[in-house]
Amino acid sequence: MSAKFNKRLASIPGYTPGVPKGQTAEDVSGSDLAQLASNESPHPPLPQVVQAIGSAATSMNRYPDPDATRLRGRLAELHGVGPERIAVSNGSCEILLAAAEAMLEPGAGVVYAWPAFSMYPNLAAMSGADEVRVPLAEGEVHDLEAILAAITPETRLVMICNPNNPTGTYVPSAEVAAFVRQVPEDVTVILDEAYIEFQQGDDPSDSIRLLEEHDNLVVLRTFSKSHSLAGLRVGYSISSPEFRAAVDAVRQPFSVNALAQAAATEALAHGEEIDGQIASSIAERERVEAGFTAIGLDTAETAANFSWVSLGDRGAEIEAAVVADLAAAGVVVRPGRLLGGPGRLRISYGTREENDRMLAALGESLARNS
Ligand SMILES: Cc1ncc(COP(=O)(O)O)c(C=O)c1O
Repeated sequence: MSAKFNKRLASIPGYTPGVPKGQTAEDVSGSDLAQLASNESPHPPLPQVVQAIGSAATSMNRYPDPDATRLRGRLAELHGVGPERIAVSNGSCEILLAAAEAMLEPGAGVVYAWPAFSMYPNLAAMSGADEVRVPLAEGEVHDLEAILAAITPETRLVMICNPNNPTGTYVPSAEVAAFVRQVPEDVTVILDEAYIEFQQGDDPSDSIRLLEEHDNLVVLRTFSKSHSLAGLRVGYSISSPEFRAAVDAVRQPFSVNALAQAAATEALAHGEEIDGQIASSIAERERVEAGFTAIGLDTAETAANFSWVSLGDRGAEIEAAVVADLAAAGVVVRPGRLLGGPGRLRISYGTREENDRMLAALGESLARNS
């Protein structure tokens, strides 16, 4: 007799890591492999953050603070909201999965745009809820009207990824506000802002202010991208206290470890340096986007730390060969077919040298495969 598993297990999508199979990120970091597949920061954590991790390491015999009191307090100050509205998490993914656990079940519905963040399909798969994937509109942007139209009395959860992963496209905050006003109050909207710091059109606090008017809104943020802490896994949500209590109820009490809490708290004390790193990623975005144009490639209009690159009419045919050529040149990118966009590549910005290497290898590969 073999073990019996939950029937839903078979429909949960697996995760394909960005670094080559069989290697951990640790094995490749320090090597000259350009890791441009996971939208990470190319900047190592600040020295003060590394020092805070070292100090926290001396008390590893103790469990971490289950309430992450200091970190939640700092986030509450930063965003001008009460700490009872903040849930910190083991990466922002944990809040997404916890929201599914707390809100979804067979017969309930979840709506999101597609392609969007690759974790969203897990929510319906793990909970047995019904999902509606609403295709992106012209220009690969969220079609908010179509998303509204897809909401039914069964819908409990809507995810809006802004800027969107994998396309990088951004919906202005005024349009998001108009959308949220039209969503029924019993439907929770998770506004996933993992890349919000990289857009330049709006004040990133616009969504936080929107929380004052809408109890059904959840703003999701992460330290993984702009704050260079992907390896430690820290994210957070700002929401109604009820949503926070619900996600806390379905998670283990110590999900954010002590090193992660110390590092994220310290990172918040260095906003200016972090802003400088974000500005340098934005400058690279402009340079890299110009580089794609120079080799004849179109991209979606990005407001994030990555580009969504179309490989042209024969894109789906040549995608695998181009990815292999880039890998041979020591450049790892994300194939679009894994993200709902065959014939495209999602390419994160690395250091200047890594980006130049990527552009050169991509140009050569296109010449070979066209
Ligand atoms: C849109 C979006 N949301 C959430 C996440 C999850 O980030 P983390 O769990 O590292 O906070 C990612 C990571 O790539 C993302 O792209």
